[in-house]
Amino acid sequence: MTQRAAEDFLLLNPGPVGLTDEVRAAMDAPMVSHRSAAFEGTYERAQRGLDRVFTGSTLDGRRTAEGGTSLILNGTATMGMEAAVANFVSGDEEVVALVNGKFGRRFARIAERYAEVKRIEVEWGRSFDLDAVDEAVTDETALVTMVHNETSTGVLNPVFAVGEIVEGSDALFVVDGVTSLGGDVFCIDDWGVDAAITDAQKALAAPPGISAMYVTDRAAARVESERAPFYADLEKHLRKAADFQTPFTSAVPLFRALAVAVEDIEEEGLPERIRRHRRQATVFREGFAAMGLEGFPETTDLTVRSNTVTATALPDRIEPVEFFDAVEARNVSLSGGQAHLGGEMFRVSNMGNLAAEDVLRGVRVVGEAMAEAGASVDTDAGLDAAREVLASGHSDPERDATSIEAAGE
Ligand SMILES: Cc1ncc(COP(=O)(O)O)c(C=O)c1O
Repeated sequence: MTQRAAEDFLLLNPGPVGLTDEVRAAMDAPMVSHRSAAFEGTYERAQRGLDRVFTGSTLDGRRTAEGGTSLILNGTATMGMEAAVANFVSGDEEVVALVNGKFGRRFARIAERYAEVKRIEVEWGRSFDLDAVDEAVTDETALVTMVHNETSTGVLNPVFAVGEIVEGSDALFVVDGVTSLGGDVFCIDDWGVDAAITDAQKALAAPPGISAMYVTDRAAARVESERAPFYADLEKHLRKAADFQTPFTSAVPLFRALAVAVEDIEEEGLPERIRRHRRQATVFREGFAAMGLEGFPETTDLTVRSNTVTATALPDRIEPVEFFDAVEARNVSLSGGQAHLGGEMFRVSNMGNLAAEDVLRGVRVVGEAMAEAGASVDTDAGLDAAREVLASGHSDPERDATSIEAAGE
């Protein structure tokens, strides 16, 4: 197959996401030593931008954390998840792991390698029973793990509500904010989060390969690295971060790209960026609904549909492969379901720096590909609904209210 023009290609997978020319160009500069002042400058810029994202992801730009360190890790977010678990617990200590999707399950599986794990597990895409969480978190619990935005099902989990429960215990609360940080509200202190993790290639819109972790001072005081993997020793990472370095050779080009990407976020402004993500997700949700498709899953209670990843059920009548082939033929890339949800849904992301026309193209291409695969959809109705959301400039007012409440604003 011949490669189509790169500028025509639209990447809508939930990461990696498309890069700006400036971010790509940053990787092309002459190499420097990871122990040079030049590199330290890069780390410092990236760290400053990450501080903004970790502590200032609110709708009014308010800071929500005081006293913590943004670490940059040579490795994707799974390494960050493992580092968080392995440095905070060991042996017979208890971890309560909340699982309602693939990444919640990954957190549980990682924790099972290091400690005793009590899973609070519900069907993927469903809401957690907060009473069950309350019952599970006891004086014996050393750590609670949770995913904020569950990429595998397109749901946004109520970290604020679980944080309230965890705050009543001595446990640390570690949250995977991989597909929310940089695209949605995230409040470290207000939600009682002790450490948060994100990936470069998601809403930060940097290239894949590195990740970041915010370690609050409360969590840093509880780091015990002896049993952690040598490479993921957080004591070493925290010590070197004070000098704007990593303990081992840094992925220099990726750090440079991340520095530019987080500066772009700062330039856009987090409140505006979060509103744009919410608006674009509303375009997808309402566009697909108006053409006759059903969202996956139906959310209940405090769990709501994601503002960064839109999951939509595949109609029973179609052959999934015909739909995905028809999308690819239009030079657009999107994702199917993961694990046992393969064949059940398609997922599109609006993380990063998409323009309104990219999102509209996503709606149109999904409609056309559905029709080609034999689904009865009304693409024009979908596009009209999508344009209406963009013209009104609004996101989902109810969602904004929930988040403001959740953030204690
Ligand atoms: C919510 C969530 N957590 C963790 C990860 C793990 O990321 P990686 O494969 O980059 O380590 C992902 C990746 O898609 C994710 O979406």
